Amino acid sequence: MWEKKVYMNEKNTVFSGVQPSGDPQLGNYLGAFKGWVERQEEKDNYFCVVDLHALTVTPDPIELRKQTRELAAILFACGIDPDKSTLFVQSHVSSHAESCWLLNCVTPIGWLERMTQFKDKSKGQERVSTGLLDYPVLMAGDILLYDAQEVPVGEDQKQHVELARDIAERFNRIYGETFVIPEPVIPEIGGRVMGLNDPNVKMSKSYSHIRGHAVRMLDDPKEIERSFMRAVTDSSNEIRFSDDPDRAGVNNLLGIYKVITGKPEESVERDFYDARGYGDLKKAVAEVVIEELSPIREKYHQLINDVEELDRLLSIGAEQARAISDQKLRLMKEKMGLIVS
Ligand code: AMP
Ligand code: TRP
Repeated sequence: MWEKKVYMNEKNTVFSGVQPSGDPQLGNYLGAFKGWVERQEEKDNYFCVVDLHALTVTPDPIELRKQTRELAAILFACGIDPDKSTLFVQSHVSSHAESCWLLNCVTPIGWLERMTQFKDKSKGQERVSTGLLDYPVLMAGDILLYDAQEVPVGEDQKQHVELARDIAERFNRIYGETFVIPEPVIPEIGGRVMGLNDPNVKMSKSYSHIRGHAVRMLDDPKEIERSFMRAVTDSSNEIRFSDDPDRAGVNNLLGIYKVITGKPEESVERDFYDARGYGDLKKAVAEVVIEELSPIREKYHQLINDVEELDRLLSIGAEQARAISDQKLRLMKEKMGLIVS
């Protein structure tokens, strides 16, 4: 037991979050969830369905509740194991919202106004919620409460993790050592799955309702095949990796095949030496994707039809998360001069 504990303490702590908005798609799986599952053993993991972040764009309440459970069920179905990782819903652990307030008080407003995601999302809007501006501070709280060293995120979230570092450093400077300084970890493979209808745009769950754009994780095999068969390619008919923007469609298909099969590029290209054209490539990619996603879809349906069990798993996750984050919140309050009862 003692030995196990020492070993566990040597593991790096990983925190990542994903918003329950839009339908999770193949890019989420290959760029995030698959890697989270594969590295569960090596790390001390916290995975969070960030429903409070989703509130920043005032989603429909019924939809939000539904999507929160659906996303949690997808993550469990991908293989997040409650014995190895803590998977929970952000709003179930009140220290997240509370730490956001405390961190707000050490965060200069100019830091938030500079965030490119805020600028993009607020552009052209008549009214912008304070929540949208404050979003990265809530995210900093998520990360800092767990002393996470590693934060796996997509390129677009790197700036927010860097802001979390700046906030942690500022807090440590003002109040003394309190937080571990986190690092963003950008996945190399599967880092960018592109849209099937436009291979120059990243596949995104915000566009997953657009026909032909995404392969949604819960699509049935027929829909998956149809999406791939319709994928935009080019007219050169050469099946090899390339960084030519005109050949981005084929490159994307080969990239998806590569990440799923785990084969090196030469061997992927070799698989298509005898192919008669892009039709064969599309079919082969659809096949490996269907094979990968089918067991996930089955497990998902089992779990989503047993809401009691799903909620039970989530309450275990929340309890584990509270055990860690409550201590850090208490320390923050003490350092800041609040009376801690
Ligand atoms: P989002 O759907 O933007 O909330 O992203 C959740 C996670 O999935 C982040 O870690 C993203 O980097 C990852 N992700 C989303 N879309 C893609 C994509 N097209 N390719 C690779 N990773 C992605
Ligand atoms: N903002 C992230 C996104 O939209 C989600 C997120 C919230 C997150 N809290 C986090 C990611 C903490 C990593 C760590 O993708």
